[in-house]
Amino acid sequence: MIEKINSLLVEVETAVITTKEQVEDIRIKWLSKKGEVSALFDDFKTVPNELKKEVGQKLNELKTKAQEKINLFKEQFDASSNATESKSIDLTLPATPLLQNGSRHPLSLVKNEIIEIFNRIGFTVSDGREIEDDWHNFSALNTPENHPARDMQDTFYVSLNPEMVLRTQTSSVQVHIMENQKPPIRTISPGRVYRNEAISARAHCQFHQVEGLYIDEKVSFADLKQTLLYFAKEMFGAETKIRLRPSYFPFTEPSAEMDISCTICKGSGCNICKHSGWVEILGCGMVDPQVLLNCGIDATKYNGFAFGMGIERITMLKYQIKDLRLFFENDVRFLKQFTSA
Ligand code: DAH
Repeated sequence: MIEKINSLLVEVETAVITTKEQVEDIRIKWLSKKGEVSALFDDFKTVPNELKKEVGQKLNELKTKAQEKINLFKEQFDASSNATESKSIDLTLPATPLLQNGSRHPLSLVKNEIIEIFNRIGFTVSDGREIEDDWHNFSALNTPENHPARDMQDTFYVSLNPEMVLRTQTSSVQVHIMENQKPPIRTISPGRVYRNEAISARAHCQFHQVEGLYIDEKVSFADLKQTLLYFAKEMFGAETKIRLRPSYFPFTEPSAEMDISCTICKGSGCNICKHSGWVEILGCGMVDPQVLLNCGIDATKYNGFAFGMGIERITMLKYQIKDLRLFFENDVRFLKQFTSA
């Protein structure tokens, strides 16, 4: 009997099959009720007692090995039939989207909208630089050393070269443009600016501005006002009103700040407008002739207007966002709410 078991063990170990059907055939041959292993178990009764232990162990080993081999064959065929299934994918089916669509950052949405609005009335876009020299950020804009305006905008100086600053305003782009282009000039410059401010819901050390510049012959304050009224209506709706209050900037004379009628309460008074019905959105004015001269433009022939607005502020008003910090945290729960235009 031991020989029979041993020869079956060899058969099990060396068995090879080529089709799925053979798995079942071999299972019947070895392990079914009438199979060879089962027959050996029947014969086990006849084994003398002193050999029962040895033969029993061998027999169990044979049964386990036969079962393992059959399982192995089954796995092989299951895996290869899966492989053939995956080869027959229907390539005409629409793809399953694996990547979720992103959305544009709200500041980009608003920046693009501002650009489009001004493009429609002939303003091009000019880029500037974020690391700026003192001349372009301050001096050319009528802000000499010790001028109080330098305190108005707490500045980050580059420690290796204190002549260089992280620009505090996009007005610096005005200077580059006027130094390099001849009037008529009609351009806007969106970009990031930096100020040494403590971070809170209402202030940040980085934010974004859009600068506007219009230089030609005989430009009037009425042109400025009309341009800004057009912008306010396009951005916040046709019913929007504007008002200009006298103000001070070193590079414009006269200077003004512009308010729009509150978009939230429509002028009746709410928290956003501090119950005044108006919210400030930008600074503006007629370019100071000294600035034109600083940039090599004939101030007897040309004049113009400029304005500057904060993109965060416009975005907060448009989408009723109450905390400036949300723009820089990149929390998807916040960003997801803005669908791309
Ligand atoms: N640069 C000013 C600021 O950062 C904003 C500004 C005011 C820009 C008046 C202008 C302007 O061009 O004419 O506060």
